[in-house]
Amino acid sequence: MVFEAMAGGVSASRVTVRPSRDADVGAMLAIYLHHIRHGVDPSQHHGIEAPDAEDIKRRRKNMQKHKLPHLVAELDGEIVGYAYAVPFRKRPAYRYVVKHSIYVHHAYLHCGIGRMLLPALIDSCAASGYRQIIGYIDGSNRASLQLHESFGFRQVGHLPSIGFKFGQWTDSVMVQRSLGLGATTPPDVFP
Ligand SMILES: CC(C)(COP(=O)(O)OP(=O)(O)OC[C@H]1O[C@@H](n2cnc3c(N)ncnc32)[C@H](O)[C@@H]1OP(=O)(O)O)[C@@H](O)C(=O)NCCC(=O)NCCS
Repeated sequence: MVFEAMAGGVSASRVTVRPSRDADVGAMLAIYLHHIRHGVDPSQHHGIEAPDAEDIKRRRKNMQKHKLPHLVAELDGEIVGYAYAVPFRKRPAYRYVVKHSIYVHHAYLHCGIGRMLLPALIDSCAASGYRQIIGYIDGSNRASLQLHESFGFRQVGHLPSIGFKFGQWTDSVMVQRSLGLGATTPPDVFP
């Protein structure tokens, strides 16, 4: 998928959103590690061991098995962001629901990369037959809250004081959006 519009400071025609490859793992890890150290993602705090390249490779393979997207945004050959979805819960009743994560390289924040990755992720999950997508966002993460709102996510939950990092308790906001036909029809049968 190549996007033609102009976005922020980056010409979107130079950005390609595509499925990740094993060769992208190092770049994705570097993006993630930066945000672990400096970011506001609720899953990120001191004391949790960061994933290594093998973890990410394993996760990618597992995603492919579930027909779940694991995407990167590439700008002039450089990986500038990635996004992926995982099953929301293991129990079969929830098999049409995914939860997702999105990370943009710190040098390219607010340049429109998130605006390219998120809709591609939504479309890809919908095309695989999933019906709802859920995200958990740190209550102070204005960028992520606004990005998700602008792609149709609604705030469906507020979980106060569930994180502890950088010396303080943090809230999470749960956001949700329907995919494809959502709840208007029964689900398609997954293989
Ligand atoms: C959240 C994140 C993915 C957004 O990606 P991005 O490429 O920076 O966002 P975009 O440039 O595409 O901007 C999309 C919208 O998000 C909002 N936004 C982005 N950066 C923002 C900022 N610094 N402050 C306020 N709003 C911001 C705006 O509504 C923006 O739309 P606009 O350009 O019309 O104002 C990115 O900031 C990021 O990777 N953050 C660190 C990791 C993280 O928090 N991931 C999400 C975990 S839930």
